[in-house]
Amino acid sequence: MNDTATFVVNPNGARRIVVTKDLPGARWSELLTQADCRIEIARSEETLDEIALRALIGGRCDGVIGQLTEPWSSAALETLARAGGKALSLYAVGYDNVDIEAATRLGLQICNTPGILTETTAEMAVALTFAAARRVAEGDRAVRAGRFTGWLPGFMLGELLWRKTLGIVGAGRIGTAYARMMVEGHKVDLLYYSPRRNEHLERLADDYSDYLIARGEQPITCRRVTTLDELLEQSDIVSLHTTLNETTFHLIGCRQLARMKRTAVLVNTSRGPVLDEAALVEHCRRHPGFRAGLDVYEGEPRLSPGLDELDNVVLAPHLGSATRWTREGMAILAAANVAAVMHEWPVWPRATTLDDVLPFFGDSPPEAAPSIVNAAALGLTPRS
Ligand code: DGY
Repeated sequence: MNDTATFVVNPNGARRIVVTKDLPGARWSELLTQADCRIEIARSEETLDEIALRALIGGRCDGVIGQLTEPWSSAALETLARAGGKALSLYAVGYDNVDIEAATRLGLQICNTPGILTETTAEMAVALTFAAARRVAEGDRAVRAGRFTGWLPGFMLGELLWRKTLGIVGAGRIGTAYARMMVEGHKVDLLYYSPRRNEHLERLADDYSDYLIARGEQPITCRRVTTLDELLEQSDIVSLHTTLNETTFHLIGCRQLARMKRTAVLVNTSRGPVLDEAALVEHCRRHPGFRAGLDVYEGEPRLSPGLDELDNVVLAPHLGSATRWTREGMAILAAANVAAVMHEWPVWPRATTLDDVLPFFGDSPPEAAPSIVNAAALGLTPRS
């Protein structure tokens, strides 16, 4: 059981809102104060377990702002519903840690923070792509350890990614933003594997090709593949952007890694369990020219044995959305969601891009919830 000590903002607020981690910026707590909420913020920086979540909720709680690291099981959600709770507002876009079915059954609104972290997370995927391909972290270690004794023609050679083939697994918002950065910056050809055709991405690629042709340059290509194997076999870079669910658990394992090029770069900024980490360790040991850039881990924050010994893997501590602007924006969206549920305001009709959610960052935000993931299942009608 974790430490459940809290500190309180706006003690006389009529609605009790539990916030399981302190959040960046000041605007989010102003919004909740304006919504007449008493805000109880957990002090602990440890990841809270189910017992701690239930203890924090206590006997009366109108809503929670929770984290992607917490186990929002049906038992935790039942405690919230029994305490009179109406909303669990996640400080994240991904909600694989929440039992959505149980929440819907209990009439709880589950909120998230889309739009604001798309480009930020895509930038992190770009950073990991090049850090892995150009051996940046390994080079940093070499310099610090005094192993850089002068420029040499064959020292620490990596892979050029310009005009190579990029495979996107999961062409949703973040996958598309990353693909665009890589296409426009590095003129890669695109393959994508996704349950649905992404016409927006295909149009972006076509328009960019027209631009290249007009400049007398070779166009790029973009194609949706029907099998994951095809993408793995043909790509020089594979970047994972899928959500985590029962169909994507260990989507990339031993068999899939074996199909990839021996000098490919694999990037994961989605969720750790999409990749079989033990299989990756084995593969990277056997193929030193293969490189991986990871921001997320299967047993986060624990690493699979051997992962931290591999020079061909770059490891980041789940920094995908970690810019001040984004994290403060996520806090505002999480608070706006809670305020809206408390006032029974309708759902914002579309929170897909940054432009869609920008109104929530102005001085007079809309009287609406930015994003309720189970709105349709709960029969909530969007604001017209
Ligand atoms: C999310 O919001 O799901 C991200 O993983 C946070 O970085």
